[in-house]
Amino acid sequence: MNIEEIKKKLADEIDAADKTEKIEAARVNFLGKKGHITSALAGLKNVTGDEKRTLGQAVNALKREAEALFSEKLAELRNLEERALIDAAPVYDLSIPSGEKAGSLHPITLVSRECEAIFSSMGFTVEEYSEITDDYNCFEALNIPKDHPARDMQDTYYLENGQLLKTHTSAAQNTIMRKYGKNLEAGLPIRAIFPGRCFRNEATDACHENTFFQMEGVMIDRDISISNLIYFMKTMLSEVFERDVKVRLRPGFFPFVEPGFELDISCAICGGEGCPSCKNSGWLELCPCGMIHPNVLTAGGIDPEKYTGFAFGLGLTRLAMMKFGIKDIRDFNSGKLANLTQFVH
Ligand code: DAH
Repeated sequence: MNIEEIKKKLADEIDAADKTEKIEAARVNFLGKKGHITSALAGLKNVTGDEKRTLGQAVNALKREAEALFSEKLAELRNLEERALIDAAPVYDLSIPSGEKAGSLHPITLVSRECEAIFSSMGFTVEEYSEITDDYNCFEALNIPKDHPARDMQDTYYLENGQLLKTHTSAAQNTIMRKYGKNLEAGLPIRAIFPGRCFRNEATDACHENTFFQMEGVMIDRDISISNLIYFMKTMLSEVFERDVKVRLRPGFFPFVEPGFELDISCAICGGEGCPSCKNSGWLELCPCGMIHPNVLTAGGIDPEKYTGFAFGLGLTRLAMMKFGIKDIRDFNSGKLANLTQFVH
């Protein structure tokens, strides 16, 4: 076969190949040990002089051309074959309900989202905060030094590197102050809530769990007072319980607030008359809170001479128990679907 004939045959075979195996076979036909182009190269030894040079150049050029054509066509066919495989694969629509009962949100998620929506509508930002923190954020920055007795009530789980699982959402206060503190000079108050999972090394019973949820809130600005605190808590709780709740403050001690309070709400069951649910007092303890201690503001880089603020630590787990009438706190982490799936909104 002369060069022109090989060229023509090459074009025909590449054209005809419609599968990767066929193009592979054609490649061997031309470039393999006994292939047409390889034989033409071998045949060069029988020619001499000028003819050898011209012919040699032509065969070598054809060889390069053939290699390029084969790899181009191979890539093209591979693509087509992959596409065909993908097209032939079964299509799954992950959004189609399984036919089983659809999932539902956890009661704590429901309450948390409700509180987030209410506080957002009052201009609070919702912050994410890590479950792992350190001694400084969880205690020191909150005016709870190493030997303070308040630590006794908040034993937790320690990591080998000295970090710990946070015992309360207050552990994020310092971070929030540092994040937004500079805005105060520009006249922007800090208004933030940070819901989160908390941990304590506790013996569990119907009212105690080693894992529970809180939602911390802080508001810091010039001239923030206890009346601001009462207003925000009353508005929020009235929305959550879908009725006008009465609130009252009793003194309570927490090292990071001064003064500190326990906030009670009027009992929904008896309307404040007194009943077994509220131990005949007409009030239910709901949310510790107070005016942020100057030491805590200072630790957060905020000048306590200029700014004041309130903080509260709402027990989300407790709130969910009250709102949905859940009697045993252990149900929340139990995975008992019969208990957990009935609150779908
Ligand atoms: N962090 C406290 C706890 O878990 C609750 C708390 C009390 C939070 C008073 C506050 C506060 O923000 O002002 O026991």
